[in-house]
Amino acid sequence: WKVSSQDVFNAGPVVPVLVIKDVAHAVPLAKALIAGGIRVLEVTLRTPAALDAIRAIAKEVPEALIGAGTVTNEAQLKEVQDAGALFAISPGMTTELLKAGNDASIALIPGISSISELMKGIDLGYTHFKFFPAEASGGIKAIKSIGGPFPDVVFCPTGGIGPNNYLDYLALSNVRCAGGSWLAPDDAVEAGDWDRITELAKQAVQGASTLN
Ligand code: 3PG
Repeated sequence: WKVSSQDVFNAGPVVPVLVIKDVAHAVPLAKALIAGGIRVLEVTLRTPAALDAIRAIAKEVPEALIGAGTVTNEAQLKEVQDAGALFAISPGMTTELLKAGNDASIALIPGISSISELMKGIDLGYTHFKFFPAEASGGIKAIKSIGGPFPDVVFCPTGGIGPNNYLDYLALSNVRCAGGSWLAPDDAVEAGDWDRITELAKQAVQGASTLN
C-alpha cells in the first residue's frame, strides 16, 4: 500500500509546513493539528531533529499522513523513507531527484517555479507539484496562467501563504491544497500552546469548507 501524490493532495485543503527543533514537540504538535482536522503533515528537513520527529509521528500518530519536506536529493529521499515518511516534498527538482522519485517506494512531490521545470517534471512522469516560492514567483496569476497550456497538472503552492490569501489559491482549478508555516507558528510550538495550533487548524479547514 502506497500513498500517492494524489492521495496527499486530496487529503485536505491545507498542509502545515513544520520546522521541529525539539523532537519532544513532534507528537503533541501532530496531535494538535489532527485535532483541528488536518491529516497531512510536512516535517521539513531543516533541523537536526527532523528525522526523529518523522519517526516519532509515524509510530505514535498513525492517523497522520506524515511526509517530509525540504527533500533535495536522493540520499535524503532514502532517509525519510526509512524514517517512516509516507511521502516527500521538495522545494525544487533535479533530474537525479526526479528519477529517484520514480523508483522510490514513497511518493515524491517535486517543486517548480518555472514552465521549463514543469516541463522537465512532466517529461519524467509527474503531474503533482509544489509551487514554490508561491508569492515570490507570481502567485495566483502565475498558477492560473500555467493552467492554460498545462491543464492536467495540479499544484500545492507554498511560500508566503497565510490566512489572508490561502483561500484565493484554493479557489484556482489547478490548486488542490495550500501549504505554509502559518499553521504552526514557532512561538506557539516553543510555548507548547497546542490549543492555539488546533484552533489555527480548525479555522483553516473551516474557511476552506466554504469554498464549494
Ligand atoms: C515551505 O517550505 O513550503 C516554505 O518554507 C513555507 O513557506 P512559509 O513559511 O512562507 O509558509
